[in-house]
Amino acid sequence: MKKRVTFGSRIGVILATVGCAVGLGNIWRFPYMLGVNGGAAFLLIYIGCIIILGLPVMLTEFFIGRHSRKNAAGAFKVMAPGTVWSVIGYNGVLAAFLILGFYFVVAGWTLEYIVQAASGSLNGKSATEFATEFSDFSSSVFRPIMWTVIFIAFTHFVIISGVKNGIERASKVLMPVLFLILIILCVRSVTLPNAEAGLSFLFNPDFSKINSSVILSGMGQAFFSLSVGMGCLITYSSYFGKETNLQRTALEVTVLDSLVALLAGVIIFPAVFSFGIEPTAGPELVFITLPNVFSQLPFGSLWSFIFYVLLALAALTSTISLHEVATAYVHEEYHMIRSRAALIVSLDTVVFAVISSLSLGILKEYTIFGLTFFDFLDYVTAKIMLPFGGMLICIFVGTRVDRKILKAELTNEGTVPFYFFNTYSFFMKYIAPVAIGLVFLNELGLINLITSQFK
Ligand code: PFF
Repeated sequence: MKKRVTFGSRIGVILATVGCAVGLGNIWRFPYMLGVNGGAAFLLIYIGCIIILGLPVMLTEFFIGRHSRKNAAGAFKVMAPGTVWSVIGYNGVLAAFLILGFYFVVAGWTLEYIVQAASGSLNGKSATEFATEFSDFSSSVFRPIMWTVIFIAFTHFVIISGVKNGIERASKVLMPVLFLILIILCVRSVTLPNAEAGLSFLFNPDFSKINSSVILSGMGQAFFSLSVGMGCLITYSSYFGKETNLQRTALEVTVLDSLVALLAGVIIFPAVFSFGIEPTAGPELVFITLPNVFSQLPFGSLWSFIFYVLLALAALTSTISLHEVATAYVHEEYHMIRSRAALIVSLDTVVFAVISSLSLGILKEYTIFGLTFFDFLDYVTAKIMLPFGGMLICIFVGTRVDRKILKAELTNEGTVPFYFFNTYSFFMKYIAPVAIGLVFLNELGLINLITSQFK
């Protein structure tokens, strides 16, 4: 049998997996979600979901991936042959396609803003001009699609270069640069006048803001940000070596991912408040408010340039991982050479991404459940498919896998201690699936319905 490729080093494992988790979700989606969901209260829900749900699901995905050494769908075929459990894998592969459909569009916007920052055209504009320019740009036909296709081409190039030379090598360079840029921007932002108002919005919770939709959004954000629930981490961990410490890797990735989201909040909110901008601007937040903010700072274009390069790099390491979920699936399940599998995935995502970009402009009138195609893709993946996938992953391992096998894999055959194995297994088996199920029921209004019967 041909030996399956693995990442070459421990640091490669960490950086590639952090690269997969850290992305637009942390720097674009987290601040705007926090802004529209009332600030610090959302942060608490998000962190709660990371610890209670995200971390156990991540470890469970690592178990499945390294144990089966397969892609997201193949893993379930090996571990539970001839059963319906492979639906978890198909849910994940489909989610990867759908996420890429809107993710590549936003990634494309970052390229437009890098070019604008570099050419100095973000200088000397008013807040309204920035807002109009963004909406003109994002609703136009040609430029956003051009950038999206260029971004898909970059991703495609890394993917066809393979696991070690492509994914691992790119992540080793990109992730440290990203951290460095984040720290510089944080220092810049917290030293702005009135920075405290932004920090208080971020860290001072108003509990009256919490309702079922904020909880669903917080849970969706936790899953999206950690890349859990869709088999991405199953795919990546199938490339981990025998000696990789799964527990430590899960903890490190979770901490680093949450740290990047927090740093993004610390960059964005002091700046937003310092310049009197609305934190509830929505998906445009990063694109409308920040150029405005940066342009009022000394060396404004330079700050904008650095920031959008950072965003593009973070996006790239995540599009690579999403693409890999689909490519590994097509490559292994259809016995196709890797480059052809990658091409099929790239061409398919071009179609999704083009429609989703146009749905912000000429196709705006065509909505699904009242959402544009772009918003629909975001909603259905982050708030439904990922938590649902996470719930099934836990139920699968909780009911189908022998505890001894689980423990042996998570302790590298007993060579690494796992002090909290019972706690982990309790959370994975009972707390996570029940909590996710309750959030769904609550959002659907079913809990209200049931409790009203007893009043
Ligand atoms: N976690 C990525 C982000 O925060 O941008 C997005 C993502 C990547 C989600 C990979 C899911 C995934 F499988």
